[in-house]
Formats: sequence, structure tokens, C-alpha cells
Amino acid sequence: MSSGSTGAVLLLLAFSLLACLCLHYVSRLESGPVRWVHDEQRELSAHQRLVYEAAGRQNTSGRAVHPQTSGVYGDRECTMAPEARFDCGRDRSLTRGECEGRGCCYAPLAGSAGPPWCFYPRLYPGYTMGPLTPTARGQTASLTRRQPSYLPRDVSSLRLEVTEETAGCLHLTLKDAASQRYEVHLPGGIPESRADNQSVLYATEYRSDPFGFIVRRRSNGRVIMNTTVAPLLFADQYLQLSTTLASSLVSGLGEHYTSILLDLNWTSLTLWNRDMAPHADANLYGSHPFYVVQEDDGFAHGVFLLNSNAIEVMLQPAPALTWVSTGGILDLYIFLGPDAHSVIRQYLSIIGRPMMPPYWSLGFHLCRWGYTTSNTTRRVAQRMHDANLPLDVQWNDLDYANKRRVFTFDPWRFGDLPETVDGFHQRGMKYILILDPGISSTGAPGTYPPFDDGLKRDVFIKNATGGILIGKVWPGPTAFPDFTNPETRQWWEDCIRAFYAKVPVDGLWIDMNEPASFVQGSVEGCPDSDLENPPYTPKVVGGRLNSGTLCMSAQQKASSHYNLHNLYGLTEAHATHSALLAVRRKRPFVLSRSSYPGIGRFSGVWTGDVRSDWEQLRLSVPAVLQFGLFGVPLVGADVCGFEGDTTEELCVRWMQLGAFYPFMRNHNDKPNAPQEPYVFGQKAQAAMRTALNLRYSLLPFLYTLFHHAHTSADTVARPLFMEFPTDPNCQTIDRQFLWGSSLLISPVLEPGAVELAAYLPAGTWYSLHDGRPFYSGGQYLLLEAPLDTINVHVREGHVIPQQEPALTTTASRGNPFFLTVALSAGGWARGDLFWDDGESLDTFETQNYCYVVFIAGQSQVVSEPVDLNGALDGLVLGGLQVFGVPSPPRFVLANGEEVRDVTYRADTEVLTVTNLALPMSEVFTVQWAL
Ligand SMILES: *[C@@H]1O[C@H](CO)[C@@H](O)[C@H](O)[C@H]1NC(C)=O
Ligand SMILES: *[C@@H]1O[C@H](CO)[C@@H](O)[C@H](O)[C@H]1NC(C)=O
Ligand SMILES: *[C@@H]1O[C@H](CO)[C@@H](O)[C@H](O)[C@H]1NC(C)=O
Ligand SMILES: *[C@@H]1O[C@H](CO)[C@@H](O)[C@H](O)[C@H]1NC(C)=O
Ligand SMILES: *[C@@H]1O[C@H](CO)[C@@H](O)[C@H](O)[C@H]1NC(C)=O
Ligand SMILES: *[C@@H]1O[C@H](CO)[C@@H](O)[C@H](O)[C@H]1NC(C)=O
Repeated sequence: MSSGSTGAVLLLLAFSLLACLCLHYVSRLESGPVRWVHDEQRELSAHQRLVYEAAGRQNTSGRAVHPQTSGVYGDRECTMAPEARFDCGRDRSLTRGECEGRGCCYAPLAGSAGPPWCFYPRLYPGYTMGPLTPTARGQTASLTRRQPSYLPRDVSSLRLEVTEETAGCLHLTLKDAASQRYEVHLPGGIPESRADNQSVLYATEYRSDPFGFIVRRRSNGRVIMNTTVAPLLFADQYLQLSTTLASSLVSGLGEHYTSILLDLNWTSLTLWNRDMAPHADANLYGSHPFYVVQEDDGFAHGVFLLNSNAIEVMLQPAPALTWVSTGGILDLYIFLGPDAHSVIRQYLSIIGRPMMPPYWSLGFHLCRWGYTTSNTTRRVAQRMHDANLPLDVQWNDLDYANKRRVFTFDPWRFGDLPETVDGFHQRGMKYILILDPGISSTGAPGTYPPFDDGLKRDVFIKNATGGILIGKVWPGPTAFPDFTNPETRQWWEDCIRAFYAKVPVDGLWIDMNEPASFVQGSVEGCPDSDLENPPYTPKVVGGRLNSGTLCMSAQQKASSHYNLHNLYGLTEAHATHSALLAVRRKRPFVLSRSSYPGIGRFSGVWTGDVRSDWEQLRLSVPAVLQFGLFGVPLVGADVCGFEGDTTEELCVRWMQLGAFYPFMRNHNDKPNAPQEPYVFGQKAQAAMRTALNLRYSLLPFLYTLFHHAHTSADTVARPLFMEFPTDPNCQTIDRQFLWGSSLLISPVLEPGAVELAAYLPAGTWYSLHDGRPFYSGGQYLLLEAPLDTINVHVREGHVIPQQEPALTTTASRGNPFFLTVALSAGGWARGDLFWDDGESLDTFETQNYCYVVFIAGQSQVVSEPVDLNGALDGLVLGGLQVFGVPSPPRFVLANGEEVRDVTYRADTEVLTVTNLALPMSEVFTVQWAL
């Protein structure tokens, strides 16, 4: 159950800033390909000194004094191109007098959108860097500010630490030199990254006064970051760092309702977790301060700001970007790739690689708010079964709970929930229900153990004066567990264990965990303080940080909610994952709405309360692709849409696209027309059945992709630019995507369409449906796309392991496998299969799995199995289809014996072999003689 407060979003104008003061450079890497010229100290001019003075003539509350000397901001300082202006009035709007009082340039332009009117001159004071001294793996220096900035509570002395984490990863932190400030500690810690002895991919250079740094790609000298373009600001509640970008092809900075490429036309993106139905210009459920830039020549790099405070990112066409955070420290990781795959691997080496999902969780899930009884819930599953529609997991929303209180179930409407769940299990199905974090606080003592025990064990978030903070969610007044407290994690596990003893759920769906509250801050409001009303509030839905959530002054074990807000979902996911693991001793399944870097280690994510309309269908593709970049491969949007009534055509198209979301759940809101596949007409049902069967047939392949994500940080649903980095056409594509490197999915995303223009990168692509080849020079092709078809193409040179579908994965996992072999022009192909029991813990880590490589070439396919645990025993290869066989084979041999069930189609050049029974755990060979 979800609430989407669709309040109007304040559209504040997005401005940025620019200044340059070329003074004293320190070259960092003696061997860097491009060295920066030193010592332009002489240029410290009269202009510059005056600017310093003007900026200094202000008081600490931030109000500047109008200078008498505005004439000094002469041509040289203020004439930068409009797109290169960095906003000097980001924290508040300024009059001309106020702007010049800050020592900034004022130059109005026509129109209100676009470049800022008040911007930093080329000369603007900031921090001064002392000498760089070497450390074990980098350098350190102190930074001091001679004059106060225009912000309240400057941190006047900073420590810069630069660490060469690995050859591809540079780590740069700026903290208060004098006292400890809040820093993010990712749960479970940041995995150790190892120093290695390869030569590093980056070169750094520093400007000492005012401080700035430059990071280059060493191989070609390209500037990855240049922070000298605007001053560094570091005050207690306002940290700002600007940089140029190496190109305009920027992705990431989620969670937002955007294309795969971000709009750099003076836009801003706020990272502040919020219960908000996806729409443009809104901060949504998750925060991912990480971006990837495609450079011009196929290289890519990424930047991660490890900071959990409210962050606003300004994008401008220079191209350039400004980070503003309301707290913490500046903790930057820069990943040099050099390709996009390596960037994601390097990023995930810091935040953690994704968990291995249980096999069944890749099947089809069905959910709605409004399955009001266990009878209804069972009937839904039965109707799916009767209509021959695959369904692995049946879900319930909060309907199941007694008075909407989690860890209870309604004794009348869901009195037989335990038996219902047993019944699902007997049919090889799984069951999941919703679990909200809010714990009802109004029951009489002794009536609701989760609250009573929680009080006793002191697990709840406190308000500013130390009482339990009470908000309002579905059950009414609620307290909120503080998952940064180890005791809370233990209490949460105890609650889950007690509930599981009655209702043996297979996974948990953690919703409302931004955390969402229906009152602002708490039922008693929030105190008036700098945390509730910071000097600068980023553009957030509701206008205030505590809108739709808890008070910022609320106290958690690790820090204030002001600092920890964006981590709430992550810490809950971590606690829930650990609890399920402890209680079930099997691979946990958790689905979370709110997210933060690292959540992929514990949970999948869905994209929240999407509307049942075509635009939301379309933008679900970039949403899913972005979560892949964020290390959350198990992701999907609510199939057929959550809010509003769907239509038959939309739902068919959404089931087709959803069959290629890594996580596929049809999910509906309470007031809407039903959208279970069986409610539609026979033709629509048939199309949905085809899509589901296609997904189920591909699950061995999908599972293998998840194995590579878990062990090697590969992506599962993959944007084309990652696979074809030097093809300029692929830079922007987000209406099509890949599974791994070998399946190209081209969904219909518009109403009424029966064909679509799909881009096929250069090479041969085979239709997965009939093996028809398309020889592309890297071009758009018009493909037929009738309502019963989703276009899927196999890339030449790949082998896709598949299995006959069934109504559950429990059944399909026993079916015969078959291979789709897509030969390259030279007649080669390769693929692999990871296989285990689908639910035991750490099967890869404990060598409790099988792994098979398939190699095709010289008119044969050979398997190379590594059998470590017998998981493939009893499973057979039932057949294969080979795409791109130029002429009919004279005969086909399987393990040396002639096979009779062979067909060859000359028009499509497809060879099909059926009725095999070759043991998968042993080496097999299938040859065709031409
Ligand atoms: C700073 O300026 C504000 C606003 O003009 C004023 O209220 C305050 O008294 C000034 N403080 C100092 C220390 O001058
Ligand atoms: C780098 O490390 C590897 C393994 O530790 C070692 O074999 C190799 O000699 C080292 N190379 C250099 C240049 O130090
Ligand atoms: C960094 O930016 C400044 C200001 O735009 C510019 O003058 C300088 O040349 C840039 N440095 C590099 C290495 O690109
Ligand atoms: C940028 O936005 C402005 C105002 O919204 C618009 O007039 C302009 O055409 C946009 N520029 C580009 C390149 O899209
Ligand atoms: C569920 O079905 C059973 C058997 O048909 C019936 O006795 C029971 O009253 C139903 N319960 C609800 C809450 O509808
Ligand atoms: C804190 O909570 C207590 C008990 O719930 C309440 O009495 C008190 O007013 C609250 N304080 C604030 C600042 O909200």
C-alpha cells in the first residue's frame, strides 16, 4: 500500500556558478602526460585583492554589505560565456546590491530560466591549500579560509586526503580539520578496496589559492574534473563543489523520472528520499549520488559522492555540475573505467556487489492492494493456474494485517493465512507480504508485543527532547524503529521470527521506508531549529525536509535524522535481509521502495507508484537501467501500472516489457479496475501467456546473468552504450536495452503501434522467435510488432541457455534445457549457465554449484560442465536451435549418434534439433555435417 501525495512541486530555477583564478598550481604526478604550469603568483592583481576585500566585508549571518567598489568587477572577471556562469546566489535569491556585496558579478539576461544573473567572477576567494605531504597511498594537505564566506558557520580549516584506492579508483575527502563531522558508514562497512601496483589511470593537479583540483585521464590527458571553475564552500550546513564535465552524456543521480541521459539545460536534481509517485522535477524514493559520463571516444568514468544529507545537483550546459549538500563531509570517489563496465565494477567495489536472488524470485509475481481476504488471494492464484498463466509468487498488501498493524494478521478475513501459505507452498509457489516500518503506538499495553517490546528495548527513534517520536502511517500513530541501533536489528529479527513461526513467508516487501509519514515531522510538529530549517533547503517536494517524513531533529543511535534520513530504507533492508537469513537459513528476498548506494547487497527495488499510462511505461525503461548502474540489478516497475485504470492494450505491452524487467511484478492499487492477466480477453491473455512463457524459458539465462552481477558486478538489464561504447547512436538509446551482452529487447511503448523502428548495432542479429537474421550496418530497422509480439534479438556469437517453461519455476527447473545458438559470421558462438538449487546461501562462495560453458564452432556445439555439487543431475538437454546455418546438414550427431528429429529451414537458415536427452552434467557434443 502506498501513498502518493501528489503535491505541486516547487519549480525553482536552477542556476550555477563559475569563477577562475589561475594562481599557484602544484603538479601531482611527475609522470603525468600533461603537466600544469606552475606559479602565476605574479598575476595576483589589484583586482583580485579588491575582490577579496569586498567578499570579506560581510558579517557571519550571511548578509553582505553593498560594496562601494562594484567598478572593480571589470570585463575580465565577469565576461565568461553564459553557460559557464556558476551561480553565486544558489542559497537564496539576491538583489544586485546583495550580489555585488558578495563580490559576485551581476548581469541580468532576458527570461527567467537559464544562466544565473549573479555569478562568481573569475577571481573569487576560497580556501588556501598548504603543502601537500605524502601518505601511505596518497597525499594530504590542510586548507584554510582567510576570510569568511557569505554562509553562516564556515568551517574555516579543512583537511584534504587523497588516496589512490586502486589503479582505477581515486578517493578524495575534504573534512573539518578541527572536529569530527558526521560521515556515512555503509552497513557492513565499505568492502576493502585493495591497492595494487598497476600504474594508475588518473593524474591529479591542484591549485592552491584558491583551492581547486583537476583530475585527468592519464592516457589521453582528458579533464575528468576541474573544480577550479567555482569556489569550494564548506559551511556547517552548506557544502558546495563545482566541476566541469568531460561531455554532456551524463547518467545517474537517481532516483528521478528521467531519460537515461540527464538534461543539462540548467536543471537541478534533488536527492532526498520521499514517498512520491514518479513525475518530473520531483525527488523520489531513493538517493544515488553517483553519475557516469560517456566520454567522446568510448571511454567512461564515474563519480560517487558518499554523503547522505539532502543533496542538490545543478547541471548546466558548459557542461558542468555543482554538488550542494546540507551536511556531512565531501567524500568523493572517482572511477576511471576506462570503459563503462569497469566504472560500475569499480563503483560496486566501494558500495558492495548485489546479492544473488533466489531462483523463484525471477518468476512472475502478482500483487494488489485490495485482495481483502485469504479466500480472494487463493482464488487469484487459482485463476492464474486455470488460465495456464505462470505464477511463482502471490502477494498481499496491508489487507492481511489486523488493524493495519504489521506482524499481525486479521483473524476473520485472513484467519487461515498460515494454511493459505502452506497451500501455496504445496503447489510449488511462494508467498510474500508487505511490511511497513511504522509500529502502531496506540494499543493498550500488553495487546501489541512489537510496540511493547520495542519500548522496553528502546528501539525507536526519539524526538529532539528524548521522547519517542510519533508519526502517522496506515495504522494511525506509529513509532519508527531506528535501524542504526544494533538492538533494533535484534528486536526486528525477533518480531520476524515470531511472525514467521505462524506465517512462513518466503520474502518481505518493505514499503513506506523513506520513511513516509502522513504528518509533517511528528504528531507534535517539530521544534524550530537549524536542523528543521537549514540556512538552505534544496528544492524538495513539500518545500521542507521534514515534509512527509520525520523531524530532522529526531535522534537515532548513529546521528540525527537530518543526517540519516536517506539511509533509512538501506538500514531497514539490511536488518530485514539479516533477519530473514537468520530465521529461514535460505537466500533472503527483500524488496524495498527506498534506496541508497549499497542496497543491492540486501534487496531488490521497484520504482514505486507508477501510473497506468504510456509515458510511465516508456520511462520505466531508463528507470530500470539506472538502477542497474546503481548496483541494484533486481528491479522492475509495477507491470500494467499501479495508479489508475489500465487498458487491455497497455497491459499487454506492459506484460511484454515486464517479461524483460529483471524483477517482474504486476501490482495494482485498491480503487482500480483489475489487471490480473486472466481478466482480459482471450487474445490479450494469449499475448500475455506468450510473454510469460518467453520469460520463463529464458530464466536459466537470466539467473546466469545475476550470477555474473553477484560475482563480477556485471549489469543484467544493460543500456546499449555500455555494450557498444564507440557507436554514437547507442549513446542516447533508452527505448531498447540488452540482457547481458547478447539479447536485445525492443518493446512497443506507444499505443496503437504494430511496428517499431529499432536500432540494431552493427553485426548480425537473429530474431529470437524464428531465427531470421538481420545484417545491420548499425542502423534503424522497421520491425513488425503486432500486439502479440515483443521483438527480441540474439546477438551473433552467443549461446543462450533456456528451459521449457512451466507454471512455476519449481516445475520449470526440472524441465529439459535447450540452447539457442546464434552463430557469428565465422560460425562461432559462446555462452554459459550457472546452476545451483536456487535458494541455498552462498552457493558460489562455498562451491556448491554447477557451471557449464557452451562453445559452438566448426559445425558443432560442445559443453564444458564443471559439476561441483550434482545440481544438474537428472537434467537433460532436450534440443537446440542453431541460427545462421548456411545450408541443410547432411546429418546431425549427438554424442556421436545420429539424431532423427532434425529440421532445417532454408529461408531463415535455422537448424532445429529436438527430442534429445543429453545429461547436462556431462560433456556433450552436437555436430551437424554440412
Ligand atoms: C549581520 O547582519 C544582520 C542582517 O543585516 C544583522 O541583523 C546582524 O546584527 C549583523 N551582525 C553583525 C555581527 O554585524
Ligand atoms: C605487481 O604485483 C604482482 C603480484 O603481486 C607482481 O607479480 C609484479 O611483479 C608486480 N609488478 C610490479 C611492476 O611491481
Ligand atoms: C579549469 O577551468 C578553468 C576555468 O574555466 C580554466 O581556465 C582552466 O583552463 C581549466 N583547466 C583545465 C586543465 O582544463
Ligand atoms: C533550454 O531551456 C530553455 C528555457 O527553458 C529553452 O528556451 C531552450 O530552448 C533550452 N535549450 C535547449 C538546448 O534545449
Ligand atoms: C472463505 O471461504 C470459506 C469456504 O468457502 C467460507 O466458509 C468463509 O466464510 C470465507 N471467508 C471469508 C472471510 O469470506
Ligand atoms: C517528544 O515526545 C514526547 C513524548 O512523545 C512529547 O511529550 C514531547 O512533546 C516531544 N517533544 C517534541 C520536541 O516534540
